[in-house]
Amino acid sequence: MINIVFLGPPGAGKGTQSNKIEHEFNIVQISTGDILRNAVKTGSELGKLAKKYMDEGKLVPDDVIIGIVKARLQQDDCKNGFILDGFPRTIAQAEALDDMLKNDLNIELTHIIALEVPDELILERLTGRRSCSKCGAAYHLKYNPPKVDNICDICGSNLVQRDDDKEETINKRLKVYHEQTEQLKTYYSNSGKYYEIDGTKHPDEVYEKIKSILTK
Ligand code: AP5
Repeated sequence: MINIVFLGPPGAGKGTQSNKIEHEFNIVQISTGDILRNAVKTGSELGKLAKKYMDEGKLVPDDVIIGIVKARLQQDDCKNGFILDGFPRTIAQAEALDDMLKNDLNIELTHIIALEVPDELILERLTGRRSCSKCGAAYHLKYNPPKVDNICDICGSNLVQRDDDKEETINKRLKVYHEQTEQLKTYYSNSGKYYEIDGTKHPDEVYEKIKSILTK
């Protein structure tokens, strides 16, 4: 069973790589960002709360996110394995994850994969990103364009730009990453399951590297 945590700054390629792994390894991708964006779309109470934080590039409070992930990991489709994309993002979230894996689910993480991409590249990646409005697949106008302009290769729906992919918000998200999330690399570095990968290469090359780690 493969249970992965993906670390990395906004725009590092966590979603892009998680999608590939999900399809090839038949394990479920759990993106806290996608869960929150869906809640915003449906106008739920969670969505109303999350939108305020997301629009400002801030993290949604730990207790809210931890509750969401705890409920999600208990669903049946996680039993074959999962990829946590965007969680944990703080030490408190990492400690809560350790606790729920040990005490509620009786399973362990198998891989913590940190995608390394310098800040200078992030802005171009995120301003050029387009995502599928239906299935969430990620594209880039220059680096990973869809086969047909503005249409998702996978499900044929329209592509949209995320609200938080504006330059000002991207800079705030990067600041939050360096202040609150980057320290998780140290948290996991002695686990024996921690892998750092150069995320600046072509997405296929990054994926081959990840795949070699997962199939080792
Ligand atoms: P979230 O949705 O998780 O956003 P993020 O972590 O900022 O990451 P992104 O989705 O922007 O980037 P990614 O690494 O997935 O990159 P992608 O593959 O798309 O979170 C959004 C917000 O929700 C947060 O700001 C926060 O408010 C809230 N939130 C979420 N989780 C939370 C938590 N746990 N706690 C509290 N709050 C939380 O790639 C980016 C672009 O680059 C794409 O266009 C892609 O095509 C392109 N690309 C990818 N790989 C490559 C490559 N190798 N070469 C060239 N281009 C590439």
